[in-house]
Amino acid sequence: VQIERPSADETTYIKIRDVCEEKPVPEGIVLIKGWVHRIRIQSKKLMFVVVRDGTGLMQCVLNDQLCETYDALTLTRESTVEVYGTLNQVPKGKTSPNGFELKAVFFKIISAAPGGKDSADNIFNDDANPEVLLDQRHMVLRDQGPSDIMRFRAFVLNAFRTHYNDNNYCEVTPPLMVQTQVEGGSTLFKFDYYGQDAYLTQSSQLYLETVLPSLGDVYCIAQSFRAEKSRTRRHLSEYTHVEAECSFISFEDLLNRVEKLVCDVSNHIWNHPVAGKILREVNPSFTPPEAPFLRMSYIEGIEWLNEHGQLKPDGTPYVFGDDIPEAPERYMTDSINRPILFHSFPAEVKSFYMPRREEDNRLTESVDLLMPGVGEIVGGSMRIWDLEELMKGYEREGIDPTPYYWFTDQRRYGSCPHGGYGLGLERFLTWMLGLHHVRDVCLYPRFTGRCRP
Ligand code: 4AD
Repeated sequence: VQIERPSADETTYIKIRDVCEEKPVPEGIVLIKGWVHRIRIQSKKLMFVVVRDGTGLMQCVLNDQLCETYDALTLTRESTVEVYGTLNQVPKGKTSPNGFELKAVFFKIISAAPGGKDSADNIFNDDANPEVLLDQRHMVLRDQGPSDIMRFRAFVLNAFRTHYNDNNYCEVTPPLMVQTQVEGGSTLFKFDYYGQDAYLTQSSQLYLETVLPSLGDVYCIAQSFRAEKSRTRRHLSEYTHVEAECSFISFEDLLNRVEKLVCDVSNHIWNHPVAGKILREVNPSFTPPEAPFLRMSYIEGIEWLNEHGQLKPDGTPYVFGDDIPEAPERYMTDSINRPILFHSFPAEVKSFYMPRREEDNRLTESVDLLMPGVGEIVGGSMRIWDLEELMKGYEREGIDPTPYYWFTDQRRYGSCPHGGYGLGLERFLTWMLGLHHVRDVCLYPRFTGRCRP
């Protein structure tokens, strides 16, 4: 059966997002172009095709002769199509992704996707092994759940930028190829840089510190890399790091800033018409956290673990100086079940750049923000601003200060008390959406053993 295509001057090309109750329904013949998301054949003379165009889903109704065309008879999932038709609001109770239906008068395949054993239906199989789904990530991203999460991620990135803009931080884009470490040599990715050793950055912190004298409070949203040996549900090899650095602040100011960031972004998303809707669908039990967060010191944490019978892998109780591993930290956070600003860690378990607390020289002005369900989502601290103390920090960690001359110079040319933090975007999203695994919020996750697609 051959049917005529409506002429260009009698049709309006629209994006699906523009069809909604809040806007007037476009009149006359409209044209949509997109991918076949779902096909339901009701009878020989009636079929429903849900089309996706990257802005939404639209149910298209094909009936009578349209169902007998070659294109209709050979239609497969994920083919690209153009559909001409008239828009109708669907009666309450009838299913439609957006409350509307496009009654087709003409449709055509633009590019046919395979059918049979290579059909996309066989890829979107919920029972598939997670590794297979990761190999097929480029296709899986077309599914509703993953694409909602990616859209949500974009809104959250925007909300972080809004927070920083509203609070007068300047955004910078530091280099990701570096010759210094920030968070210990064991997680550095090393590569050959024109015959020299170089690394993929673990954190942009040191670079942010260098621009405080020129730009004031600064932030960046950049990729960080960690050669993590273990596969856990919160560790990635590449992640998006939201980092900020602030001059002339106190440790107390730093804790307040971390708290405000998390509250502002959560509230912004909660009140956002699109992001808020995704959030409520994916994680119905979410409510934005309220300040002030519980503040708990490392020493209090050790006491808590002892009081709650948490022992080290060798069966002995945790004592001052121990690095608290992920499992007991998560147990504590999940039991307390509210955000915890966990602070003042011993110098031995923290980085070379962290200054000591005045009241207790064994402790540092450091903080991790722990969230129920995920654990640590932020790591921050004040920074040593005294030159000699910094030199001792390098020495304690066995770091050669030579390649750090530019960082050290900040303590020579007008030093100041300052501090900052880094927030793992994927952990933040996993927490907000109440998901199990950080890799579900990545476009193309990178973790031990996976660097494709
Ligand atoms: O606690 P970290 O290692 O702190 C720093 O890198 C500081 N230099 C940041 C700063 O002060 N500017 O990492 C900060 C955060 C963690 O709390 C966590 O959310 C995230 O980065 N993160 C990871 N996320 C996913 N996979 C990994 N392997 C991560 N390592 C750290």
